Amino acid sequence: CGIVGYVGKRPAAPILVEGLHRLEYRGYDSAGLATPEAGALRVIKTEGRVQQLRNLIKEEIPAPVGIAHTRWATHGEPSDANAHPHLDAAGRIALVHNGIIENSDRLRAQLTAEGVTFASETDTEALAHLIGRLMAAEDAPSLEEAVRAALTKVEGTYGIVVLDRDNPDHLVVARNGSPIVLGIGEGEMFVASDVAALVRHTQQVVYLDDGELAVVRSDEFHTSTLAVEASPVVKSPTTVDLVVDDYELGGSTDFMSKEIHEQPTALARALSGRLNERFATAHLGGINMEPRELRAIRRVKFLGCGSSYYAGQMGAQLVEELARIPADAEPASEFRYRNPVVEADTLYVALSQSGETLDTLAAAQELKRKGGQLLGVVNVVGSAIARECGSGIFLHAGPEVSVASTKALTNTATSLAMLGLLLGRVRDLSTADGKRIVAGLRRLPEQVAEILAQEQAVAEVAARFADTRSMFFVGRVRGWPVAREGAQKLKEISYVHAEAYQASELKHGPLALIDNTMPTVVIVPDDELLSKNIGTIEEIKARSGAVIAVTNAELPEGLVDAELRVPRNETELDPILFTIPLQLFAYHLAAKLGRDIDRPRNLAKSVTVE
Ligand code: G6P
Repeated sequence: CGIVGYVGKRPAAPILVEGLHRLEYRGYDSAGLATPEAGALRVIKTEGRVQQLRNLIKEEIPAPVGIAHTRWATHGEPSDANAHPHLDAAGRIALVHNGIIENSDRLRAQLTAEGVTFASETDTEALAHLIGRLMAAEDAPSLEEAVRAALTKVEGTYGIVVLDRDNPDHLVVARNGSPIVLGIGEGEMFVASDVAALVRHTQQVVYLDDGELAVVRSDEFHTSTLAVEASPVVKSPTTVDLVVDDYELGGSTDFMSKEIHEQPTALARALSGRLNERFATAHLGGINMEPRELRAIRRVKFLGCGSSYYAGQMGAQLVEELARIPADAEPASEFRYRNPVVEADTLYVALSQSGETLDTLAAAQELKRKGGQLLGVVNVVGSAIARECGSGIFLHAGPEVSVASTKALTNTATSLAMLGLLLGRVRDLSTADGKRIVAGLRRLPEQVAEILAQEQAVAEVAARFADTRSMFFVGRVRGWPVAREGAQKLKEISYVHAEAYQASELKHGPLALIDNTMPTVVIVPDDELLSKNIGTIEEIKARSGAVIAVTNAELPEGLVDAELRVPRNETELDPILFTIPLQLFAYHLAAKLGRDIDRPRNLAKSVTVE
């Protein structure tokens, strides 16, 4: 979900709506705002997109303070009533909240027994009532004191912003597990869950840490610990170097297409200054480990969610091949819940575009607590996971807005290839092989551009298969994570069912589903497994299944129904290139079906809840 708050000198509403618009990728089930007005609170909220909220604002709202929210539903369906902000029973305080209040059922039961009537099904509303009731007491505390006291009763995660109708010159903000950042302007202050909402107004920001609270006025802010017996925390602003343009569509129709086409430049940025021809290795300045420490690593484990997990699978393959160290990837969400055995000589690598995915953050925290060696491979500088890990590799992909990850995945896989190269070169990877990989990496940006130049051809193939109800994606070894990512992309944005399988496993079950209504995308690199993959294609064709091959090989004439071509590079790097045509395939198939590409139903870009 996304949060925006403002206290300053200009009318707040347009700033809030504009900020929500930039955060919409974090959730877009419903949106709302609250501002003080003539001794009351004016709340406008609605199910649906930020644009629907904008349409509801018919007149100018002069109040120079307000809070706003765009939601990704967890507790309670998307509806007008469940949209944030939520008010207390007296209508005195308004609250926006990211995260999940885990004991909300108990709080709701207690409050209901005390006579409170709830207006929504959300977990958030209980907190609004708690704060409101404290403030209604005889020895009425300040909003700050009431928020502190109320939060002692809350279990779970939150990033909150609270507004008091009777003292609308300040906002109270608190963080525990859900990001909150303050933006410092001149005579005005901003609050948001993400710098994307701030960069238009200021580049001076302060990140709250977990367990901190801030009181924000137009010309000052005070930060302190969350405890009732609070102690002040001195925080100095950092400068973010994001530019407003990164969040604008420019000439593109949507962010996914913009970001797909940014890949050659984004990749070049990720590689820049990190390849060393002379020593045939990678120079990764964010990894503070001596060669001896790198050599002592006996296993590598990648942890991430969604596309970051699939990029981790690509990374595991690369590390095994280049460094001959056992490596694997696991969804961070599984890892954190299974009481993992943490080994001292394993290198754990947390992968996250946003740096805010709660499951990945929790896995990183658990690892640190157990003394595991941890690196982060993260796109957003200053994000929670980047700060938790302390060292690692930044992706330099630039802000990724579309829910479906493209350039971040490409840069993650490429960063992991550099990590594999580094680990390989302190072990047994020869100088010659190191040079081969360095040269291969250097060619990637241009080759990605080459694939993108064939977009029209991919679009035509996608259009031919747009009425398909279900599709298989199969690959072997290096091709397996490519197949998984390709299937994921198609599912996410087109809602066409897609299932990924190891090509080798097809005959052990799923082949039963193949007929002339079930096409299969087969990943066919020209590597040592080519003949095996051709065998798989023949098995599918013999059951009347259509085959789309993603390939850099010369396949026998007439073997497949469609080809998506990929240029040749070093075989180890194939997964990076083979992923690109599948982005275009999913994109054009979804476009043909008229889907809302940047805002697929039920999803959000950053999942900061469990
Ligand atoms: C969400 C998004 C996915 C993304 C995943 C991990 O589920 O919808 O596209 O891959 O989170 O996000 P992260 O920011 O941690 O890479």
